Amino acid sequence: MRVALYPGSFDPITTGHVDIIHRALEIFDQVEVGVATNIRKTSTFSGDERISMIRETFKDEPRVIVTSFSGLLVDYAVDRGIKTVIRGLRAVSDFEYEFQMASMNRHLTDQVDFMFLMTSEEHFFVSSSLVREVAVNGGDVSRFVPGPVQEHLRNRLKAD
Ligand code: PNS
Repeated sequence: MRVALYPGSFDPITTGHVDIIHRALEIFDQVEVGVATNIRKTSTFSGDERISMIRETFKDEPRVIVTSFSGLLVDYAVDRGIKTVIRGLRAVSDFEYEFQMASMNRHLTDQVDFMFLMTSEEHFFVSSSLVREVAVNGGDVSRFVPGPVQEHLRNRLKAD
């Protein structure tokens, strides 16, 4: 079975991430979404919240599984026996960061390869951080996040 690991912060998952996962499902039998829980930036949603939003989004797609990891991404991929890591590319600006990260990871292990998939144009400008900013300031983010995330954002805004 061909399995890909799609790692990220997913704080929260956006329609851009969903687009990448659908594209990966065209190539791989299973996509494991790996939610990083030790990210340097402080997250808006807890690890458990980020995981459950992704699980709810893909509840009808058994080929998507959601796990979490802390520590090095490449160690996690090797532990899971996964040889391909997927990352999404939006625009030129993503490339430098992704290239740097993939190069560092390649120096850490030769057992994992990175594969970059381009999001469709309508997602070029969508990012978790912009979604959070628009939502916090009362803007409509319904086109940029899957349904389950809209609910979580609403509840979160009510609570704050
Ligand atoms: O969604 P993001 O924030 O762009 O995802 C970045 C992520 C989580 C994939 C990256 O920060 C990562 O791999 N973190 C785990 C720690 C690690 O392996 N760092 C070395 C990267 S070269």
